[in-house]
Amino acid sequence: MNKILVTGGCGYIGSHTIVDLIQSGFDVISIDNNSRSNVDILNGIEAITGKKVTNYSIDLCNYEDTKNVFRENRDIVGIIHFAAYKAVGESVSNPLMYFENNLGSLINILKCAEEFNVSNFVFSSSCTVYGNPDEIPVTETSPQKPGESPYGITKQMGEQIILETIKTNNIQSILLRYFNPVGAHPSILIGEIPFGKPANLVPAITQTAIGKLPSMLVHGSDYPTRDGSCLRDYIHICDIAHAHTLALNYLIERKNKVNPEIFNLGTGDGYTVLEVIAAFEKVSGTKLNYTLGPRRPGDVIAIYANNDKAKTELGWIPQYNLENMMDTAWQWELKLKNTAI
Ligand code: WQD
Repeated sequence: MNKILVTGGCGYIGSHTIVDLIQSGFDVISIDNNSRSNVDILNGIEAITGKKVTNYSIDLCNYEDTKNVFRENRDIVGIIHFAAYKAVGESVSNPLMYFENNLGSLINILKCAEEFNVSNFVFSSSCTVYGNPDEIPVTETSPQKPGESPYGITKQMGEQIILETIKTNNIQSILLRYFNPVGAHPSILIGEIPFGKPANLVPAITQTAIGKLPSMLVHGSDYPTRDGSCLRDYIHICDIAHAHTLALNYLIERKNKVNPEIFNLGTGDGYTVLEVIAAFEKVSGTKLNYTLGPRRPGDVIAIYANNDKAKTELGWIPQYNLENMMDTAWQWELKLKNTAI
């Protein structure tokens, strides 16, 4: 009785979390319609864990199809809900698609959790809920400024939907607010497979370095930071993944003091865009072709986490540093170049 449903299980964070869950003794199934992910990633999960993971390739916005998964798996004890669109820029140009997909899928999965008595629910949230913070580092009780994009607003609304829903049923929930997940599993058998031209910094760096992109722009060099470029809290994907396993066990053992419990998942260190580029160049031994460009609308100037709560409550200690993040990201990009994925 330890089956976990991971939605978005073929995605970047979902696939790395499935590996950690299996290695921690859980049995895992996935729901992923592969609209923004590659089902081949399941081969990498099997290569690492020896386990073949069943993925139900259905749309979570289809309630009947989603319910059928629960009808076929009456032994699900927990849900980790990742499935969502996450491209900030795309959400600005297509807000209704983001609200329909991200909120519709969340509502359906919550309805199923209620109907099929699955009482442990971990939600993939984001530091984007803080908007442009007045004070950094941010804690879980830092005020939430207005969302900077429809993507960010779906995360804020998602948290509110969960907050109100769990008042009426026996679902216990944890909201995990990721900062900037980067890097790849050290086996280099799974990693991030960006959908189209990467909007995020690290895949933009690695694709430029390997020649997939001719060059990259640094979005803004006149910010009030130590070198003028934006500051973020980059966190290795495997540290993020392990936090989900710890959070699930914390819920199953009913250690949560409030419902929902909220945790920041960041290293507690902030790095600027130019510092990340310098770290990448040092690790990869390559010179990156980039130019300083204008600011990107919707960008937060600077944010990084106070992660004390996750450390003390979950016993979560990030294991990877910035060089590890750059090294695994680069090794994965080299792997992608030599394989069909
Ligand atoms: C980081 C910095 C860019 C690309 C978003 C979501 C967040 C999370 C991670 C899901 C910014 C700069 C980037 C480039 C650049 N999503 N940059 N040149 O915007 O902090 O966060 O992705 O979990 O919820 O909001 O991440 O990697 O897009 O940007 O200069 O080619 O890198 O301007 O300052 P972001 P990012």
